[in-house]
Amino acid sequence: MRVLIIGTGYVGLNTGVMLAYLGNDVTCIDLNQEKVKRLQAGEVTIFEPHLDELFAEVHQKMHFVSDYAQADIPNQDVIFIAVNTPSLADGNADLSYVRMAAESIAENLGEKFVVIVNKSTVPIGSGNWVEAIIREHYFEVRNAKPNGLFNVVSSPEFLAQGAALHGSFYPDRIIIGSEHEPSIERLKELFGPIIRQDFEAPACLPRPAGLSEVPMLVCDVTSAEMVKYAANSFLALKISFINEIAQLTQKIGADVSAIAKGIGLDKRIGDRFLDAGIGWGGSCFGKDTAALVATAKDYHLDMPIIRAARDVNYAQRVWVVDRLQEELKILKGKHIALLGFSFKPNTDDLRDAPSLDISRLLVQRGAIVRAHDPVALDNARSQYPNLGITYSDNLEFTLDAADAIVLITEWPIYRELNWESIPPVPVIDGRNFLDRDRLTKLGFTVIGIGR
Ligand code: UGA
Repeated sequence: MRVLIIGTGYVGLNTGVMLAYLGNDVTCIDLNQEKVKRLQAGEVTIFEPHLDELFAEVHQKMHFVSDYAQADIPNQDVIFIAVNTPSLADGNADLSYVRMAAESIAENLGEKFVVIVNKSTVPIGSGNWVEAIIREHYFEVRNAKPNGLFNVVSSPEFLAQGAALHGSFYPDRIIIGSEHEPSIERLKELFGPIIRQDFEAPACLPRPAGLSEVPMLVCDVTSAEMVKYAANSFLALKISFINEIAQLTQKIGADVSAIAKGIGLDKRIGDRFLDAGIGWGGSCFGKDTAALVATAKDYHLDMPIIRAARDVNYAQRVWVVDRLQEELKILKGKHIALLGFSFKPNTDDLRDAPSLDISRLLVQRGAIVRAHDPVALDNARSQYPNLGITYSDNLEFTLDAADAIVLITEWPIYRELNWESIPPVPVIDGRNFLDRDRLTKLGFTVIGIGR
């Protein structure tokens, strides 16, 4: 099939590479010309495991353009809108990029019917909104109605950064929000190889054992949009729940890992997303929980559970600094080494990363902070040049003369550090990830979360 993808961020690029690998003719459009030039030259623009290998395999067959005139909209079968929807100050999503994409589609629609798939996380009701913009704009520029030329479907994305390609090839489910049969049929055909799992798995991404079919749920547009918010809010809630339990377990002298295991073995609860730590970060949970609360407010509804999940999450960051202060007594002038800066391993993304708030708080309280990360420091330097901390690519320098160490991101290199060569100091293990016994034997005071 001929597929156009608008936006080459995490969702757009991973989806594009996956669809190209499955044999579709994929064009990706991004208005950032610099990015497009790099993609045309075969350079991967985001850090994502295996993306470089798979991109090298398919990029010659893909087209990258920055101008809608070259996107060949009249001949596309499916167009994915995968532009970002950042948070506005009031918690609502900024939809200006979605609007621009919708208007550009309207300006370029041809005579052939095309399915437009909204993959960007948009507020409930946006499927109809995108459709309305296309209709209105088409009428404005052509003085005609685009009847029968397009249909807007919502197909939310569940990719997690660091495992995005895996999630593209082997998703838990595909959600199609549409009541338009021809559109549903076309998407069933496009996603057929994923649903049936009958494609040859890429060498770098073997198919998980036992996976023979991916469920596809077809529902109305609004429900599909809501699935995305409800899923992310539930996952965020699960993490905050275990973090709240962790706060109590550390008072009563129990181990939250055992509790997570104990409750996770109950199939109704499940064992994933129960790792206690310094809480969630990233571009999704914070944004989507805020957007859900904001949407509810438009309907004079409160969402106390989701608000509480957010409060618990952001309090974990303060807890780290309070706990350090309790341990060191005085933070002023103390050297604190942060291990990891990205919001989770296998990504260089810093959006809503706990490291940022923790750094700000430590600096506010007079500490001297050095931060290391294997991949995120270029982003840190360009996006957060004024945090008042030192970014260091050299681990030895980061740890030199540290009064305390905080493990922020569970990159394996930190577990495998030559801890024997580091003078023992208090260590906050923000992800319950380090080898506690080994470090304790070496004289470190290891402070985990909920243990
Ligand atoms: C999340 C969802 O997992 C995806 O399904 C969704 O598609 C995506 O948001 C999105 O809306 O685009 P992502 O933010 O990339 O994906 O990362 P996660 O793996 O979900 O982790 C989010 C945060 O939660 C990380 O900071 C991680 O360290 C933290 N976390 C995760 C915990 O603190 N404990 C856990 O048990 C699991």
